Amino acid sequence: MHAASRIIVGVTGSVAAYKAAELVRRLQARGAQVRVVMTEAAEAFVTPLTFQALSGHPVRGALLDPQGEAGMDHITLARWADAVVVAPASADFLARLRAGLADDLLSTLCLATRAPVYLAPAMNQVMWHHPATQDNVATLRGRGCRFIGPNDGGQACGEVGPGRMSEPAEIVTRILDAAGGALRGEHWVITAGPTREPLDPVRFLSNRSSGRMGFALAQAAAQSGAQVSLISGPVALDTPQGVRRHDVETAQQMLEAVMAVAPEAEVFIGCAAVADVRPARYQPVKLGKAALGESLPLARNPDILASVTALTQPPFTVGFAAETDDLEARARAKLRSKNLDMIAANLVGRPGLGFEADRNELLLLWSDGKEHLGPADKAALATTLIDRIVTHREAIRPSANTGI
Ligand code: CTP
Repeated sequence: MHAASRIIVGVTGSVAAYKAAELVRRLQARGAQVRVVMTEAAEAFVTPLTFQALSGHPVRGALLDPQGEAGMDHITLARWADAVVVAPASADFLARLRAGLADDLLSTLCLATRAPVYLAPAMNQVMWHHPATQDNVATLRGRGCRFIGPNDGGQACGEVGPGRMSEPAEIVTRILDAAGGALRGEHWVITAGPTREPLDPVRFLSNRSSGRMGFALAQAAAQSGAQVSLISGPVALDTPQGVRRHDVETAQQMLEAVMAVAPEAEVFIGCAAVADVRPARYQPVKLGKAALGESLPLARNPDILASVTALTQPPFTVGFAAETDDLEARARAKLRSKNLDMIAANLVGRPGLGFEADRNELLLLWSDGKEHLGPADKAALATTLIDRIVTHREAIRPSANTGI
């Protein structure tokens, strides 16, 4: 638990609003400071007085309430929070959040805060399954919102299915355990998957990569409390909880997305299988077989890792190397030539490990050390790798450790 956690509990219009009272009590019992913000619809289910009595602070609802703004204005409140949890989050609130509306205090806070936003949905199961709701959930997940539940079971409306708000005890554990994570307050940027380099509207050059290792790293870093930006090429994977995902296609787009966030990051992990070359000229009209000819002129792509380490104050940078032979020597050469702090090397071309497999084995190298990791499944390997980055970075580059 993190004793100093400051949490905004947002309550929206749903029968489950009564459970938010227990949530406030449990958060306080674990040492958190709580402020409650209600939407207008929530007040039809429970009265602000309940939450005022429990939290010991006036409950806020309106965006431009002169009394509230005189105390802590909405921007100050958004900065004050270590986490915002909306419980229950109604279907309407998810839709408004997805649209980026800021017409009441709670939606405005969710836009204005840099703290993690947790959403505990509660609604009728048909509403939960509706494509509009599912689309809103997927988009919000991709922006880094962390969903807790909903759980399956009997509903107030008499139906059975997913849509029940998670129990307050479960919500408290999720929020406070992440808030107490070792990487709290840090920003990690991770690339994953292949890039695609188009030749014409139907053909492209690419690399073999499922993205699983990079996604596992993003998930493990987020579970330890880091704010994670995952910049991914085309892959068929769901966004891990709490991770901000940015989809790209080409190496050039990946470079731009990385350079937009890397200067502010504490750690950069280049796990993507970036295509080293692209067709020299993109043809906007499909080329017929006859026009393809015998050779394909290629141009070099920018090196993303090298661009990050060339920054004035680069983050602690970890690269990957996939090699078919002479693993250690080749990886060490890349560690030096790309100015990396660490490199995770894996032998490829063996069945069941590495590319497009669930398991992997890595040789982790840094300037004066090495360690074999695995073979293990990619989730376990990701947790170990993150642990080694945190352990070794103090010794490898003391200035990169921003004080956890
Ligand atoms: N990488 C990158 N930008 C590129 C190519 C690779 O950032 N244009 C990163 C990958 O994300 C990975 C590492 O570099 O972390 C892998 O390097 P690799 O492609 O093996 O290195 P190359 O410099 O291309 O070496 P090789 O000559 O073996 O292809």
